[in-house]
Amino acid sequence: MNRPVGIFDSGVGGISIALGVRKILPSEDLLYVADQEFSPYGSKSNTIVEARAEIITTFLSQQGCKAIVVACNTATVNSINRLRTMCSIPIVGVEPGIKPAALQSNTGIIGVLATEKTLSSESFQALRSQFSAAVNIEIQACPRFVELVEKNNLNSVETLKIAEDYVLPLIAKGADHIVLGCTHYSFLTPVIEQIVGDKATIIDTAIPVSLELKRQLSRRDLLNPQDRQGLTKFWSSKASEQASEKISQLWGNKVVVADLNLHKDKTVSKSNHISLKQRDC
Ligand code: DGL
Repeated sequence: MNRPVGIFDSGVGGISIALGVRKILPSEDLLYVADQEFSPYGSKSNTIVEARAEIITTFLSQQGCKAIVVACNTATVNSINRLRTMCSIPIVGVEPGIKPAALQSNTGIIGVLATEKTLSSESFQALRSQFSAAVNIEIQACPRFVELVEKNNLNSVETLKIAEDYVLPLIAKGADHIVLGCTHYSFLTPVIEQIVGDKATIIDTAIPVSLELKRQLSRRDLLNPQDRQGLTKFWSSKASEQASEKISQLWGNKVVVADLNLHKDKTVSKSNHISLKQRDC
């Protein structure tokens, strides 16, 4: 019950999910891993993303986590099935909020922003086809967004221009909902709102994912009963003073980010990464 919840992403994007979890489950202790040495996952091979997801899941479960949130759409589509078969604790993933957008759309057209890897994945295609009879789903890969967020470049003229290039074509096609299919993009919500004005609603997954985590913990009687605010600990595979500063800004509190020196060999392959064993979870 009083064990922590683990959360990980390729970088700082999953902090948007951690903020949702902190809001919905204020008493839970959280352990957050930013795999910044391997960011962005969107441009890595499936093998590398899967290996990193396993290595980090192993680390978090060894820290005693009672549940893990894969706070990354790209790692979710790539690895969640494998993580779930290897691990007995609840593993909660994130996926683009196509369902709420489809249910609420008046124009019958919605836009989805995500990484190329998410958009081309089988699970995204399956999700898309569930709703494609109801709405026209326009997709847009946003390869420059992750780097902007990693650099905390959230409000500049450059960011606005890049966001316009991605978002305006979707609005021109009649999209009245813009789905954020990457957790990094949450931090660009103010810029995207500025672009779409009242023409579209932005759909973010932080709160629905946090509610799903709450349901899963509650079902297993794992909710932390403590009265105090939960603690949060951060690690990065590329820790530095700068990383601590940027993460503190996004988190809204001063934090020190510890170094996570786990198998940083970039040539990591399925044959040489650690294999997660059921007993580790
Ligand atoms: N936050 C990750 C996601 O939701 C970022 C992907 C990346 O690192 O490319 O997909």
